[in-house]
Amino acid sequence: MVVPRVQAAIASAFGEEYRGTDPVVRPSQFADIQINAAMALAKKVGMPPRDAAARIVEALDLDGICTAAEISGPGFINLTFDGTWIEELLNAESPGAPGVPAAEAQRVVVDYSSPNVAKEMHVGHLRTTVVGDSLVKVFEALGDTVIRQNHIGDWGTPFGMLIEHWLEIGEDSPEAALLVDDPSAFYQAARAKFDASATDEDGFATRARLRVVALQGGDEETFAVWQRLVAQSKRYFNAIYSTLGISLTDDHIAGESSYDAHLAQLCQELEERGLARISDGALCTFPAGFSGRDGQPMPLIIRKSDGGYGYGTTDLATIRYRVRELEANRVLYVVGAPQNMHLRMVMATARDAGWLPDTVEAVHVQIGNVLGEDGKILKSRSGAPVKLMALLEEAVDRARAVIDASRPELTEAERAVTARQVGIGAVKYADLSVGHDTEYVFDFDRMLALSGNTGPYVQYAAARIRSILRKAGVLERHTAVEATGTGVDGGTPGTTDGTRIDGGTPATTGGTETAGTGIDGGTPATLIAVVEPAERALALHLLEYGATLHKVREVLEPHRLCTYLFELAQLFTSFYDQCPVLKSEDSVRESRLALCSLVLRRLSEGLDLLGIETPENM
Ligand code: ARG
Repeated sequence: MVVPRVQAAIASAFGEEYRGTDPVVRPSQFADIQINAAMALAKKVGMPPRDAAARIVEALDLDGICTAAEISGPGFINLTFDGTWIEELLNAESPGAPGVPAAEAQRVVVDYSSPNVAKEMHVGHLRTTVVGDSLVKVFEALGDTVIRQNHIGDWGTPFGMLIEHWLEIGEDSPEAALLVDDPSAFYQAARAKFDASATDEDGFATRARLRVVALQGGDEETFAVWQRLVAQSKRYFNAIYSTLGISLTDDHIAGESSYDAHLAQLCQELEERGLARISDGALCTFPAGFSGRDGQPMPLIIRKSDGGYGYGTTDLATIRYRVRELEANRVLYVVGAPQNMHLRMVMATARDAGWLPDTVEAVHVQIGNVLGEDGKILKSRSGAPVKLMALLEEAVDRARAVIDASRPELTEAERAVTARQVGIGAVKYADLSVGHDTEYVFDFDRMLALSGNTGPYVQYAAARIRSILRKAGVLERHTAVEATGTGVDGGTPGTTDGTRIDGGTPATTGGTETAGTGIDGGTPATLIAVVEPAERALALHLLEYGATLHKVREVLEPHRLCTYLFELAQLFTSFYDQCPVLKSEDSVRESRLALCSLVLRRLSEGLDLLGIETPENM
């Protein structure tokens, strides 16, 4: 909240070049916040930290926002805000205003999910799907134009074998249904046939090889079969996406095959421009900064010695397309960490070729592995890849058992809905709440726990507030605000008249008569009064919502939003323990209900940006 002011103070104390300095805002034991920038700045400007802190405080414009600014310890600046100012800011956000300033809009291409046709999506794909979908939602909420790209693996040599197998068993056979229900089993069956006939001159393997040639040579009949086969896989992907509530549709698919027509020209161009050369029979680029163990430059193979193209070639065509045709100024690859070297080499080559100008940011958002309890990549007991759908079903079943025991009075249908929201939410939250590049152990008990930084914990706080508002008879009014709320797009204000929580009397708490006008422009809404320490802590945290989203957008880390929501849920819990809501009277009750409503709004908006639903009952 005060970051711009602190930065202005730093600039005026030490010079414009320091304006970008991170003020290092931390919670404080003695005040509302603590600013720790003086310590690092002191070294740069060559003065004792306490003096640097004093200079900052001197230059700081605290008028109307702080009642105290004190320097303590080695050079901490402790700020105590003016309660009225907190109330003003909070009431400006409540209940219908967005609370989140829009960013300077970008055109962001986000490559995520990107599973392979006729293969099981593994937990790594699950994680890129979940993290990617959250990032795109945050970008959109802040006003960016997002272009989702599902770069499915739908091309290459295995397709000869897959098509031949499919034709042999019959497209309508029960074995063919495996493509949708158990793609890994389908793939294994084709593979087994291929391996068994490897030496057989006119056997399956030979036919499979001819099939690839026909497919890549543009044989119409083969192409049509391939299309049908890919369509089956899309059904499988879409079943997973719909179970998970992922925003990807068929329109976002731009698989490897879609770049095929450009590969020959691309290689030719790189060769002609001297950016690629033949090495051991293959055409390769050698982008600067990549060398193998032997110290020799590392090749990115773009045309194999047999004339075929590979993953690198497709990715070069892809990045060129994203910049040239899709006109991206930010290109993100939400892809497994093991592909980092590959993607960096692709980006470096694209920079050399001028296809990725400096004005375009390209980032590999590395996704860490999901491990089993043995610390190795998660596998099923038989060693086969885990079936994703079964995994999700188990999460829902486990959540169901908990809700059956804890809320037997809910109807069957209500419990089924909550169990799905909690089970799926828990799995997604587990993927989102740790740094995207860290590995973590997949553990149902931990992710479904109702305590700690888990999806269910945050969902529970939201459901609890719903129940409080319901008891107070104001849930409907809250929901009306939600439904017509403006989201966080920073755009058009809502126009509902159902925005008031107070049921009539304009509140007069907090002494700010003008701050709390309802979003219909006329009626004053309930003013939230920030009086008790627990209210104050909650209020200060609420005001950090917008900054948190902007940070997620900048550093591409949805876990920051998880932490924010987790802390919000915790602060709400302390507030609710310390400040009676339903038992309070008059304006205090109204103010606290309005505060509850704002917390609920932020919790459910935040969960929504993580792709997680907020249960009605829990
Ligand atoms: N299909 C690949 C895999 O499953 C991921 C593709 C990622 N995107 C890309 N442009 N390379 O590993």
